[in-house]
Formats: sequence, C-alpha cells, structure tokens
Amino acid sequence: MTPDISPADPALASDMVGSWTASSVRVRLACIPDIGRTEPTLEHAPVLEHVRVAADHVLTTLDAPTMASRAEPGQFAMLTVARGGEDSPVLPRPMALYDWDAATGRVDFLYRVFGDGTARMAAWPVGELMTAVGPLGRPFSLAETTASLLLLGRGIGICSLTALAARARARGVAVHAIVSARRPDAIVATDFLERIGATVWPVVDTDGSSDVERLRARLDAQLRDRAVDQVAVCGSERLLRLAAQVGRRLDARVEVSLEARMACGLGYCHGCSTGEKGLASEAPLVCKDGPVFLARAEAIGKAQ
Ligand SMILES: Cc1cc2nc3c(=O)[nH]c(=O)nc-3n(C[C@H](O)[C@H](O)[C@H](O)COP(=O)(O)OP(=O)(O)OC[C@H]3O[C@@H](n4cnc5c(N)ncnc54)[C@H](O)[C@@H]3O)c2cc1C
Ligand code: FES
Repeated sequence: MTPDISPADPALASDMVGSWTASSVRVRLACIPDIGRTEPTLEHAPVLEHVRVAADHVLTTLDAPTMASRAEPGQFAMLTVARGGEDSPVLPRPMALYDWDAATGRVDFLYRVFGDGTARMAAWPVGELMTAVGPLGRPFSLAETTASLLLLGRGIGICSLTALAARARARGVAVHAIVSARRPDAIVATDFLERIGATVWPVVDTDGSSDVERLRARLDAQLRDRAVDQVAVCGSERLLRLAAQVGRRLDARVEVSLEARMACGLGYCHGCSTGEKGLASEAPLVCKDGPVFLARAEAIGKAQ
C-alpha cells in the first residue's frame, strides 16, 4: 500500500507522509516523532523449523537471539533468501517480526508463499544458516494509559500486528482484532490471537463479511459503550480509512504499518520513499521513518 502523495500540496506538513481522500474524509499520515529505532544487527541464524499454517502460508522460526532481545512490535527484518554459493535473488526480503522469545532467541515469521523469495524461504533446509538483519524500522507505540486496543489486519498485514497484540495482552490491555482476507483459507494468526486472549473477528470477501460498510456497522454497534484508546491497522487502504474514522469518532490514536518494495531496509537506497523528492527535502522512507506512521482522519465539508 503506497500513499498517494501530492508534494505540491501546501497543506502537507514537512513530516506528512501522504493523504487519502474518500467521499467526505481525508486520511493524513505523519511520522511518529517520539519513537526511536532499536539498533539492528546482522545474524547468521539457523532455521529451526517451518510449519505450514494455511494453504499458502508458512511460519518459519529462526534462532536469532540478538534480534529477539531488541525487537519491538511492528518492526521487521530483511532476510537474505539466496543460499550460500547462490548469486540470486540479490535483494533480501522484508518480513514483519510475527513473534519472538527473548529468553530462547526464537524469532517467528509468518508469510504467504508468493514468489521466488518466499518459496525459497519456505524450502530453506532446517539447521542451515540464513542471513537476517533486524530489528528494523520504527515500532508501534502502546501508551501506558491504553486499556483497549483495536487491530485491523488484511491478508498478511495481520502479521505486523500480532506482536503488538501480545505486548498489549501482557499489560492487561483488551485487544479486539479484525482479521480480514479474501478467502477463509487465507485467514491466518487467529489461533495466535485467541491464545493470547484477544477477541477475534475473522471476516472474508467470499461471504461479504469483510465489506467495510458492514464492518463499520459492526464496530459502531459493538464499540459504542466500550472505549478504544488505540487503533492499529495494516494491509488495506480501505481498512486504514475505516480505522482513521473510528479513531476520530472515539478520540483514539491510530497507527498504520505501511508496506513498500524494499531493497535495503536501512534507509540507504531510498527505494521505499513515500513520495517524490521535493525541493527542500525528501518524503519519509517506509523502512527508516516507518513502517509505522500516525494516521488521522479529517472531515472535508460536512462533519463526520
Ligand atoms: C515491512 C514489511 C513487512 C512485511 N511483512 C510480511 C509478512 O510478515 N508476511 C508476508 O507474507 N509478507 C510480508 N511482507 C511482504 C513481503 O516482503 C513480500 O511478499 C515478499 O518480499 C515477496 O517476495 P517474493 O520473492 O516471494 O515475491 P516476488 O514477487 O518474486 O518479488 C518480486 C520483487 O518484488 C519485491 N516485492 C514484492 N512484493 C513486495 C512487498 N509487498 N513488499 C516489498 N517488496 C516486495 C521483492 O522484494 C522482489 O524484489 C512485508 C513487506 C514489508 C515491506
Ligand atoms: S528500502 Fe532502502 S531506503 Fe528504504
């Protein structure tokens, strides 16, 4: 999901990432100013296991103790999927840190087997070392005062939200998760979310339950008396708009994790820029300034 940026828009502040406009609502994104990044490391990490969790989805576990000791929810790693002696693919693949255990050094990645890189990951021999750089990017925030968190994840976007859910549950925060996918067999992470005590709403396109207007009505009905302090979203522009509108109605902080094509993941190649370079400065980079950004809905014309 790449924001539609108008660098010439004088209303965009210097740290604004982009804006989406739909009917009477505009969603504006901005860098999170008060969150720093942890120091990444390069590890040659043994692959511990692969588990096929759905028709096209695999969970791969690495033994990466330094990454596990520094990771924060919403961060990602760049995984080199060319094995020793191979000369392609040249570029590593970005993957969200799905879950980890600092005590054992285990780091999990859950991904859709999609193209050459993810097929190679899923076929990586157990015990063989994989080069992993991370944790990268700025994480989600979780305020001390947050008592209730709403997650909206579409497709593999939910994999960027699981660690936040776990962190929140460990602090006693109520977590409600909408897990959206095209088909029932593409729904993932619900077992993880249920295990940690989140309320999970799986919704799919095939029966219409993922329709955004139906979700809006459901959220309006179910969240009316239950305040949501924070909202986190990943994987869909339509869910981002819904999240921003819910956040505006409930006066909740909304954060979005963006996806972008990444070559380095470190802020050097500028391939993941959220917009064109302006005269004075360049638009924020998804890998370095994100992938997590603040989102805010603004009414255009009539009030929301
Ligand atoms: C921060 C971040 C976190 C991610 N987390 C996950 C995750 O947890 N689970 C998951 O399944 N996927 C995740 N992705 C998407 C994942 O990186 C791509 O699906 C993967 O790179 C596809 O590689 P491939 O070789 O299998 O596909 P190919 O189609 O063969 O890739 C072709 C080229 O496009 C690039 N590319 C294709 N899609 C993407 C994409 N969405 N983002 C970046 N580069 C892309 C690849 O790097 C490659 O150079 C994440 C992406 C980002 C940016
Ligand atoms: S991927 Fe290279 S700068 Fe972001």
